[in-house]
Amino acid sequence: MTESVSPSAQPSFIPGPALFGVGVGPGAPDLLTLRAVRLLKEAAVVAIPRRSDTAPSLAWAIAQPEVGEVPGQERLFLTFPMSKDPQVLLPRWEEALGQIGKRLEAGLSVAFIAEGDPLVYSSFIYLLGEARQRWPQVPVEIIPGVTSLTAAPAAAALPLVDGQERLAVIPASYGVEDLAQVLDAFDTVIITKVGDTLPHMIDLFTRRGCLEQAVYISRATMDRQKVVRDLRQVPAGKCDYFSMVVVRQGGRSGVLMGRGAGA
Ligand SMILES: C[S@@+](CC[C@H](N)C(=O)[O-])C[C@H]1O[C@@H](n2cnc3c(N)ncnc32)[C@H](O)[C@@H]1O
Repeated sequence: MTESVSPSAQPSFIPGPALFGVGVGPGAPDLLTLRAVRLLKEAAVVAIPRRSDTAPSLAWAIAQPEVGEVPGQERLFLTFPMSKDPQVLLPRWEEALGQIGKRLEAGLSVAFIAEGDPLVYSSFIYLLGEARQRWPQVPVEIIPGVTSLTAAPAAAALPLVDGQERLAVIPASYGVEDLAQVLDAFDTVIITKVGDTLPHMIDLFTRRGCLEQAVYISRATMDRQKVVRDLRQVPAGKCDYFSMVVVRQGGRSGVLMGRGAGA
């Protein structure tokens, strides 16, 4: 679980106890913020979530090239399986909280890394809630990251929301049955964790006449990034885990709408 241990001998690390949630951005290492890089070089412990004991951590793969080797820093790998079952997740969290708690109680600074932003659909959110309960005296700081919710539209040069427009986000893995109502109430809708829900979306968007406003983006800013402007062209089957659909219905945008040469 541990790559190297002897942090207490390093006086230059950020003094602890302190807990940091550090966003590492959507995939491209040069979308890490300067602050994230500094933090990840100066924390005594970097806590690295991964999906299995043998799988590489994507968040660490993003951060590692910039952070490099830091003598005496501990890299603490923590495994959280991809599961919605609390019976599966809770024991792993207990184990992880025990490991993190031990370091905080020893007066160390711990930086927990997260893909994208740590406060957007991230395992750090559970840690934050538990930290407030278990270690109320420990200061917590969040280092925001570039979230995929903005990086993916950027890859497609697709404006997200403007003027009076309203934005909704739906993680499709929890169901898309109410997508029609959401489209009634919001101008732009981002559907994450697409899975096998694309045929349902194509059908619904076609009926509502907004299929042409929908864009599929996978692996934004990573290798093999894909932007598909006709959802029917996305290969059949389960979509890449790192994919989303953005549908911007428009119609209520900013005060300049319809006034410029490009209108
Ligand atoms: C658990 S959420 C993580 C969100 C992350 N904390 C953030 O701020 O971007 C995972 C979902 O975000 C979306 N996602 C994350 N990275 C992405 C990327 N590089 N390109 C497209 N979608 C991405 C996908 O829909 C994926 O299923």
